[in-house]
Amino acid sequence: MTDITLTVNGEERTASVPPETTLLKMLREDLNLTGTKLGCDVGDCGACTVLVDGIAVNACLMLAGQANGKKIETIEGLSTMEEYHPIQKAFEEVAALQCGFCGPGMIMSTKAMIDQGDDLSKQDIRDALSGNLCRCTGYTKIIDGVIDAYEEITGKKVPEISPRAA
Ligand code: FES
Ligand code: FES
Repeated sequence: MTDITLTVNGEERTASVPPETTLLKMLREDLNLTGTKLGCDVGDCGACTVLVDGIAVNACLMLAGQANGKKIETIEGLSTMEEYHPIQKAFEEVAALQCGFCGPGMIMSTKAMIDQGDDLSKQDIRDALSGNLCRCTGYTKIIDGVIDAYEEITGKKVPEISPRAA
């Protein structure tokens, strides 16, 4: 067993885990943070997306040991009991999700994308979320929610194609 210490949503958390434990398993089973979902467990679906030092990562592909000492953001850190995060509000307003299983991963990928501060087009947004799969919605409402969140948070309008591509 190895002691792993993470700063999760601003709080230092330590667990003693076997060396083969993934970050996803540690979050869900040792830290009881089950908002991050276990889908494919092989890096294909994005349901397990969390931010590691600000970068979106598939937590099923990262060992807990690789995350030792790092800053982790999960869906549980986004909202308070009183208020949703603007991304969550935007998703709710357009009814972006159906079963909701893909939601935490979609929302964390969206947060990483917006936090980077780049000017994004609709095509950039679709490309950035291509690693997050949804089996319910057909994606249109999800992309609408991401665009609304981006515009609300950054104050910028999202063009159809990137000015860089013109
Ligand atoms: S559960 Fe990690 S990518 Fe599917
Ligand atoms: S809303 Fe069901 S998987 Fe996306």
